[in-house]
Amino acid sequence: MSTTLNDIKAPVADEMKRFETGFRDSLKSKTPLLNRITRYIVKRKGKQMRPILVFLSAKLCGEINERTHRGAALIELMHTASLVHDDVVDDSNLRRGFFSINALWKNKIAVLVGDFMLSRVLLLAVQHKDYDLLELVSKAVEQMSEGELLQIEKARRLDIEEDIYFEIIRQKTASLLKSCCAVGAASAGASESDIQNLANFGEQMGLAFQIKDDLFDYQLNNNTGKPSMLDIQERKMTLPIIHTLKHCGNSNRRFIISTIKRHNTDEKRIKRVLELVRSHGGIEYTELKLQECKENATRILHEFPDGSGRNNLSRYLNFVLERNK
Ligand code: IPE
Ligand code: IPE
Ligand code: MG
Ligand code: MG
Repeated sequence: MSTTLNDIKAPVADEMKRFETGFRDSLKSKTPLLNRITRYIVKRKGKQMRPILVFLSAKLCGEINERTHRGAALIELMHTASLVHDDVVDDSNLRRGFFSINALWKNKIAVLVGDFMLSRVLLLAVQHKDYDLLELVSKAVEQMSEGELLQIEKARRLDIEEDIYFEIIRQKTASLLKSCCAVGAASAGASESDIQNLANFGEQMGLAFQIKDDLFDYQLNNNTGKPSMLDIQERKMTLPIIHTLKHCGNSNRRFIISTIKRHNTDEKRIKRVLELVRSHGGIEYTELKLQECKENATRILHEFPDGSGRNNLSRYLNFVLERNK
């Protein structure tokens, strides 16, 4: 039987209830427009994978406490702000199955709402003197921006290779998941070496998280019955296409590159690109890499003693690879 979001949440269900109230309160403001928007955001919550990971990490290393709760809020606030900004950057009208903030209130407001959330991250940390947690989260956010910018640079030139792809996803996605583990462990008073080990687990799991996300683009969509192939249209080069470009020969390569550059809305051409990815094993290869990250993560996790804390995280890892959204 496959692992569900509820399965991984169960060991910290009470903490997550409290987290949700705290998260909502941490966004309250005297400005009516801001309140309307943040209420809209809180109502359409995501999977909350990051706070769950913070709590599970703390539980593995000791007791969940007030600092763990603040750490979880810091990270989910930061994550949410980054998604609000990401939808501006990607000019995307949908988020979590609903209209994005920029679609409803325009870019100007979306950028400012993201900034407001960032200010709440800083205030929450500084008011409680959680400087160690703030440092961990700030480092992750620095890398997220660098990763996004590297991705944009590569989208312009389309000259990306596998090592750069891994660098991009390590920075833009794995870094924040890594910080969840570090923040959770640090909040529970773990030793430096335990914090580092658990952070390394989080990084490998985070790579798997983004590879899985990138694979969704090639999977049949429930509504349309065909893969969405949106990444290609955004010139986002992910592992299936990177692998295919390397193995498909010169003329196919020219066809794919020219499709992405100049014909990225031409359905016939996109369909042909999809066929080329499939026939050159781009999907299988990506799944192989996904498994490699999972194995790395598992190896690191097994340096921790056997027990329920470790099992929780290994279930979390399974969910990352089995989830369908
Ligand atoms: C989306 O993250 C952004 C990526 C790093 C791929 P999530 O899939 O965790 O987003 P929500 O919070 O559940 O919507
Ligand atoms: C999400 O990146 C934002 C970050 C990881 C910082 P993407 O643009 O690849 O993901 P979605 O598809 O919009 O969630
Ligand atoms: Mg993006
Ligand atoms: Mg996006």
